[in-house]
Amino acid sequence: MRIAVLTVSDRCSAGLTEDKSGPLLCDLLRDIAQTIEYEVVPDETESIEAALIRFSDDRRADYVFTTGGTGFAPRDVTPEATKRVIEKEVPGIPEAIRYRSLQITPRAMLSRATAGIRGKTLIVNLPGSPKAVRESLEVVLPILEHAKETLSGQTLDCGRPEP
Ligand code: MTE
Repeated sequence: MRIAVLTVSDRCSAGLTEDKSGPLLCDLLRDIAQTIEYEVVPDETESIEAALIRFSDDRRADYVFTTGGTGFAPRDVTPEATKRVIEKEVPGIPEAIRYRSLQITPRAMLSRATAGIRGKTLIVNLPGSPKAVRESLEVVLPILEHAKETLSGQTLDCGRPEP
């Protein structure tokens, strides 16, 4: 799998704070990834959109995971930028993440994260803290292989029993 990780944070992109969540995501995905690319951008719609398009169209990533910018802060625009570049929304992924996360913390409802498909790339927003990244990624890891197969048109029989 070709995976890209995008940290969205003004402070990390300015070098004022060390990014913990992006590198954590890379570590957690290392076992299933053939390649991992990683970038940090500020909370600017144009920068986020440009990175998402580059990872999807030029780098042909199977998955782009963003972290950060999904909350209520005035500069949080990751879901808006994501919605501008995706062609199909995938509501089940953020629904599942929030459903499972709400069993851990009521603050999970403060994430406006979205997910969607651009070409053959699935883009998934995750919240910004390392704790939230860990808890959210756990929810989606089991479906990544099957999602890639269906996206690439390889799956003809979705009804078979799960392994
Ligand atoms: N989801 C999980 N699983 N665990 C968490 O600790 N934190 C929440 C929420 N989602 C959290 C979570 C909090 S406190 C916020 S403010 C929102 O994600 C938005 O985070 P972001 O703005 O860093 O993206």
